Amino acid sequence: MIAKELAPGVHWVGAIDWNLREYHGYTLPGTTYNAYLVQGEKTALIDGAYGGFEEEVLGRIKSICDPATIDYIIVNHIEMDHSGTLPEFVRRMPDVPIYCTERAKEGLARHYDTTGWNIRVVKTGDTLDLGGKTLTFLEAPMLHWPDSMFTYLAEDAILFPNDAFGQHVASAARFDDELGRDVALAHAQKFFANLIIPLAPKVLKKLDEVGALGIDIKMIAPSHGVIWRTYAGDILKAYTDWSRGVSKDKVTIVYDTMHGSTGMMAKAIAEGVMAEGVDVRVCLLRDGRYEGTHRSDVVTEVLDSKAVLIGSPTLQDEVLPTVAGFLSYLRGLRPGRLGTKKIGCAFGSHGGMGGAVAQANELLKAAGIEVIEGGFQVNYRPDADELARAYEFGRSVARKVRSR
Ligand code: FEO
Repeated sequence: MIAKELAPGVHWVGAIDWNLREYHGYTLPGTTYNAYLVQGEKTALIDGAYGGFEEEVLGRIKSICDPATIDYIIVNHIEMDHSGTLPEFVRRMPDVPIYCTERAKEGLARHYDTTGWNIRVVKTGDTLDLGGKTLTFLEAPMLHWPDSMFTYLAEDAILFPNDAFGQHVASAARFDDELGRDVALAHAQKFFANLIIPLAPKVLKKLDEVGALGIDIKMIAPSHGVIWRTYAGDILKAYTDWSRGVSKDKVTIVYDTMHGSTGMMAKAIAEGVMAEGVDVRVCLLRDGRYEGTHRSDVVTEVLDSKAVLIGSPTLQDEVLPTVAGFLSYLRGLRPGRLGTKKIGCAFGSHGGMGGAVAQANELLKAAGIEVIEGGFQVNYRPDADELARAYEFGRSVARKVRSR
């Protein structure tokens, strides 16, 4: 096991979970649980990993020092992908002081038997002097749990913000420039879209707060994925833009189809969007017959789109379950909290009375999307005139997108 140096006396000692494919309801190509060792005259371990990765983290630490010599453990966040190794660490390092927020102390006691643990509660502005390395703590409640906190290492200008600015990716790369700027940002966009959207107002407030501190940030070392050492400014700007709802002239069309009619409408609408020179993504939700687009990849597209169109046939007077499930996921993410509202509308085919389009529009509104029209629906299969109307509908949505 090897560690990776960020700066003299600062090392990554995390774990790589190569085979994790689903977490928090979204698909991923593995991830890393980043822990960091900071050595001054004293040594601090920042964060940990999922239970089961104890030996990997301890093995990396051993390549630097004897784990028994660790003087402090910093718990930035108690979710089990970072705190799962803590019981074993405490067993091996009894009495080691654990620094965390009050809410983290409460939360740790709900996850583990913390009897006898030497927990020290910290607040924003508290510092821990390691001798030549100084850690400053910054509470970050609801980014993304009540207990969350950031830790800042002044001498090396490194911010350890735990989940914030993270990406779920497993690779040999430890740094953004090793993975590649665009790949790292794409993984960060998926992470933001699936976890951070509801917290957008808090992100902007926290970024302002950090800016007001006037601290230099040379490196951002999150708890998942690569460390931002070359493109720290880019990920900070991306978080600001995503939180403000800065989007492209782009329409995401999300649909499922029973006999192909709603699919025909989706394609005709997409042609209309493209005819206006606006970018478009067409995402078929998985219906068991095709390898569709997973909801977590769809919301990643939605994040930087100005419009989202939802296609569903009517089944038993209801929205098709795949589409209803997606809309429920979207509602939970609350894209209405982004600084700029997205527009949207539903469409679909029906055999009987219909109903899915009106319901989907209501679900879009509940997700915070500004519904621009009553919806576009056809009976059974769309004929040539109706496909032409779908094409014109796409053009009209694209013009609205361009004008925003
Ligand atoms: Fe990576 Fe909120 O845990």
